Amino acid sequence: MHASFDLIEAGVVGLIKPTTVYTYGEMEKAFSIMEKAEHMGKLILKSDPKDLVPAIPRNPHPLKLKEDATYVILGGLGGIGRFLTLRLAEHGAKNIAFFSRSGDVKPKAKALMQELRDMGVNAISYICDVADSTVFESTMARISNEMPPTKGVIHATMVLNDEDFKTMTYEQWNNTTRNKIQGGLNMHRLMPADLDFCVLMSSIAPIMGNGTQSNYAAGNSFLDGLAWHRRSHNLAACALNFGFIAGIGWAAENVKISDKHRADYDLSSIHPPEVWSMIESAITGFQYKDIPMPPQMGTCAGSGGQAQMMKHIETWMHYNDPKYAYMRQLDVLATGKSPTTTATTIALLRKSLTQTTSLPQAADIVEDAIAAKLSRVMFMAAEDIDTSKPVSVYGVDSLIVTEIRNWIFDVLRSAVGMADLLNAESIAALAVKTAEGSLLVPEEVRREGRE
Ligand SMILES: NC(=O)c1ccc[n+]([C@@H]2O[C@H](COP(=O)([O-])OP(=O)(O)OC[C@H]3O[C@@H](n4cnc5c(N)ncnc54)[C@H](OP(=O)(O)O)[C@@H]3O)[C@@H](O)[C@H]2O)c1
Repeated sequence: MHASFDLIEAGVVGLIKPTTVYTYGEMEKAFSIMEKAEHMGKLILKSDPKDLVPAIPRNPHPLKLKEDATYVILGGLGGIGRFLTLRLAEHGAKNIAFFSRSGDVKPKAKALMQELRDMGVNAISYICDVADSTVFESTMARISNEMPPTKGVIHATMVLNDEDFKTMTYEQWNNTTRNKIQGGLNMHRLMPADLDFCVLMSSIAPIMGNGTQSNYAAGNSFLDGLAWHRRSHNLAACALNFGFIAGIGWAAENVKISDKHRADYDLSSIHPPEVWSMIESAITGFQYKDIPMPPQMGTCAGSGGQAQMMKHIETWMHYNDPKYAYMRQLDVLATGKSPTTTATTIALLRKSLTQTTSLPQAADIVEDAIAAKLSRVMFMAAEDIDTSKPVSVYGVDSLIVTEIRNWIFDVLRSAVGMADLLNAESIAALAVKTAEGSLLVPEEVRREGRE
């Protein structure tokens, strides 16, 4: 450094020229010029008292966890639990207890425990089925002997058994609900009353409904209600109704869906930083500035604008429900280039039927259309409709059968009867019958079916 200044003072080297001066208020412009590497000389930033600069407001309620407290994460060795536990450690947690049925045997769980220990966290995994009150109670007794006082809990257990309600077994119902209902109740009764926070990881399923997840919706509904109940008794609680979580957790690790479908959901899904932001708010009790967190907060319902962006999705299944009429209109671009309205979808469907050259081709188009219609009226995800099964397995009632029959008549221009609809051995077979009778399918193609 001395040598450099000596050279400058001796006039051997000079300042780099030209110099262009920007104020801090113009910082963005300066960096953008520098990024393009088109400038000569040096860009200089100079402060000016009149500068207006963008700044992130200070969080008045930063999360600072207690070093001498224990934080209990029920189901914390699952996908989301592992993610949020690391965030807790980064915010000062030094004692973390995990409750799960299988403990830390799986490689990812083992790796997390090691990572936490490397961060100086006293992380202990307890084998505890949260739905079993005796085991829960004895685990709490162990914790109070082995760890500092429990000051916070996150309920993040989950077991999925998706099935249509009509065909769901008691085991499927019970396996999915017990960790949320009995597990939630045990947590409420057996955890200390003076918790600083109690975060209940719920789902959008109890709000939006989902044809094959009545058990999951019921379990999470219980947690939502528990949050309201606790808050009405001045006990800490906040239920978070998450939708599809991208990147972490069960859905990211297990769901076998096409990239296209994943991309669709990606638009309405929530990503790890936002997940953490909601959990952080639920822990501190404040959502923004001094605005308190309500007992329950939902996310990922999606808006009409998002549905509009996913051009090939006519509407999301829940948008047929008048309760969501407002959300259906939300964000929709009035001048959007290609809003996918029901009318345009129907027009495309009809056009493709008029252009078919074989009956199987027409039947394929009709099969997809009937499956999509059924998924909407039954509030189910389209991929849950198995067209090798009859319509009746989806628990349709006479009103719905009438609606589908009228829709087929109106949109597909085919007169199938109620009996055809109910007695067809599969949706695929119904599609063939519908295509054979559709006035949109060219006559020579339909004749092929009759011969
Ligand atoms: N992933 C998503 O997209 C998503 C979306 C909305 C809401 N959520 C909510 O987020 C939370 C975490 O989900 P995730 O994706 O992390 O699920 P996950 O990976 O399946 O983890 C759930 C954990 O719960 C534990 N568990 C299940 N039953 C239990 C019981 N009776 N007692 C103790 N532990 C039990 C499981 O461990 P053992 O098998 O070892 O017991 C498992 O590790 C859940 O509350 C879920 O409802 C997730």
